[in-house]
Amino acid sequence: MKKIIALLLAVSTLLSLTACAEKEPETVDYKTELTDQSLTYSLDEIDKLSAEEHKIGDYEVPALYKYFEGKVKIGVAFTSNQMYDYEQSLPYDPKAEGPKVTVNDQVKAGILKHYNLYVLGNEMKSDHCNPAEGVYNFDDADKFVALGKAAGAELRGHTIVWHSQVPQWWFKADPNDQASVADCRANGTLASREQLTERVTTYITEVMTRYKDDIKYWDVCNEVLNANAIRTFNDDQSVWSEIIGDVDGNGYADDYVEIAFNAAREAGGEDVVLMINDFNMEWQDSKTQAMYDMVERMMRKGVRIDGVGFQSHISVDCNVAAYRKNLEKIAGLAEVYDECFPEHKGNFRIQITELDMNMFVGAIANEGFYTWSDEDYERQAAKYAELFDMFLDFADDGVLDAILFWGTDDENSWLNSTPKLRRNAALLADRDMKLKPCFWSIARAALEHTAD
Ligand code: GLA
Repeated sequence: MKKIIALLLAVSTLLSLTACAEKEPETVDYKTELTDQSLTYSLDEIDKLSAEEHKIGDYEVPALYKYFEGKVKIGVAFTSNQMYDYEQSLPYDPKAEGPKVTVNDQVKAGILKHYNLYVLGNEMKSDHCNPAEGVYNFDDADKFVALGKAAGAELRGHTIVWHSQVPQWWFKADPNDQASVADCRANGTLASREQLTERVTTYITEVMTRYKDDIKYWDVCNEVLNANAIRTFNDDQSVWSEIIGDVDGNGYADDYVEIAFNAAREAGGEDVVLMINDFNMEWQDSKTQAMYDMVERMMRKGVRIDGVGFQSHISVDCNVAAYRKNLEKIAGLAEVYDECFPEHKGNFRIQITELDMNMFVGAIANEGFYTWSDEDYERQAAKYAELFDMFLDFADDGVLDAILFWGTDDENSWLNSTPKLRRNAALLADRDMKLKPCFWSIARAALEHTAD
């Protein structure tokens, strides 16, 4: 009898060991592990923490998205070299004392802990993903999707149809032609309408089918407008409208936008959120009007555009009242949307897609190595707070559902090289990853807005 029991025990131990060996590796709950769970997300706590020095990935720093939970998603753009290898454990021991972590680890931890919406800054652009006919490069995008899942973040796909960072072969009659698009244009060797339509449709189908269950929001089209109409070759070398032109003969050569949205809907299905994204609409009324008119016209033709992205590369002297007026204008499209697509009523949205704040205004605009003072940072904090308070008004109205920063910190920002080399200070952490006053003013704005 004893022998039988021993045998049974041995078998059951063996079985349980086998089961252990086959168990999936433990996944790390980044959002929980990287942030002190005893934080209270209160004004008192902000007062205390903001008086101390903290880095973006520090354990005792609250997660920014939490202040906005249930109101609006808080997102960030990053590049593939800033992605943490999610298959390993945490970037570092978050509870360890002292400056043990590298700046790079701080960036990665900051991305994981503070945001619940991600966008890849460059590596989902179509030139990266479809460099030559029949060639697809989705390695970075695949990693991005896996990271998003591991970190519990929703994802934006950015971007498909644009005049920049788009495969040049799409525009050439012979896809292997080495001449520039401008030269092809001069030589009469641009692609035909049919060729370009076929190429962009094929790519859209490929990318949107691949990420159908993973990427919720897409910038189908980016920057298709100039100050008051569809772009032309003379505005930023865009040949889209020139090649595809006015297919339906309604007087507007913006049919490539419709073609792209229709292909995206076809491939992405009913639930995917398809958006059009542009810059300067924060202040340029004529451009906002042009966006309104174009989107309305397309909706009335049955093209379902689910939202408009305001890139929001703004300056510290941004006029918030003008910005509000332009957001209100686009928010008015929700009514048109509901009328045209009653079965999707309430689904039209605005997103703030690429928020950052140029600090070089006025007299210091040319001082590339200007040293930012506490006063400059306070001015920036006040402007960010004013903006977030306004964004939350639109979130309260149910029309704004996401705000994304275009980068994590001042070192990793395109504004250091565009429009020229200068040390800008556009984002929430400085070059050492120390949180700036604007991080805390934004958190405070979220709490105070609720208290209104
Ligand atoms: C535009 C694009 C982004 C990015 C920024 C600059 O706003 O939409 O993809 O290239 O410029 O970094």
